[in-house]
Amino acid sequence: MKKGKLLYEGKAKRIYRTDDPAVLWAEFKDSATAFDGDKKGTIARKGELNAAMSAHLFAVLERAGVPTHFLEQVTERAHLIRNLTMIPVEIVMRNVAAGSLVKRYALERGLILKKPILEYYLKDDSLHDPMLNRNHVIILGYCTEPKLRRIEAAAVKINRVLRNYFRKRGFALVDFKLEFGTRGSRLYLGDEISPDTCRIWEAKTGEVFDKDRFRFDLGEVESHYEEVVRRLTA
Ligand code: TMP
Ligand code: ASP
Repeated sequence: MKKGKLLYEGKAKRIYRTDDPAVLWAEFKDSATAFDGDKKGTIARKGELNAAMSAHLFAVLERAGVPTHFLEQVTERAHLIRNLTMIPVEIVMRNVAAGSLVKRYALERGLILKKPILEYYLKDDSLHDPMLNRNHVIILGYCTEPKLRRIEAAAVKINRVLRNYFRKRGFALVDFKLEFGTRGSRLYLGDEISPDTCRIWEAKTGEVFDKDRFRFDLGEVESHYEEVVRRLTA
């Protein structure tokens, strides 16, 4: 498969066409942004680490019966993926209070939630990804109700599979963000699953192993990303 024309450049990936219109080439970048792109930087080797972790977890999810866009890893930092029609809604799943949840509702960081909380955000940087409720998603036409039900069921299952998978490797999966797309009538998980899109804490100590190290200048970002990938892919 050959890398074709650049189709789209996002903050963390470049998406290219290939000679097959049903297949795209996704290249993971080292550049990192936070707070809606206000903070910019580079995390050494992030592209290859996120590509490795995403490929591995997509395979774990496929084995658990969750269809994903992932087809094959083609270079250290590139995946072949299904060309999907993306749904412009980011699904956030939370098991433990952190990040914007703590800020918005003045909660104690680290509070274990009685049940996972599922949230919806509109994927639109120019609007700063505003939070949506179910009515906004359906009535404003971002996603139909039947499709949203399938997404919610998939997100619950993904959370169950990944939480267990992380726990067995000594990590708490605090929260994470998912993006979905369709091809015909089929629904697939898209984008990536990486320390950029998850909060990952050491289960025993609460030490932060994710992009919060970059967001809040905690240092040793690369070595923590490396340790996540090492333990999750071992
Ligand atoms: P939040 O607490 O900032 O709302 O983030 C919740 C989770 O979603 C966290 O694991 C990081 C991830 N996330 C993204 O992947 N992209 C984003 O643009 C944001 C805001 C969060
Ligand atoms: N990914 C978003 C940004 O680049 C927000 C974040 O992850 O903090 O701004």
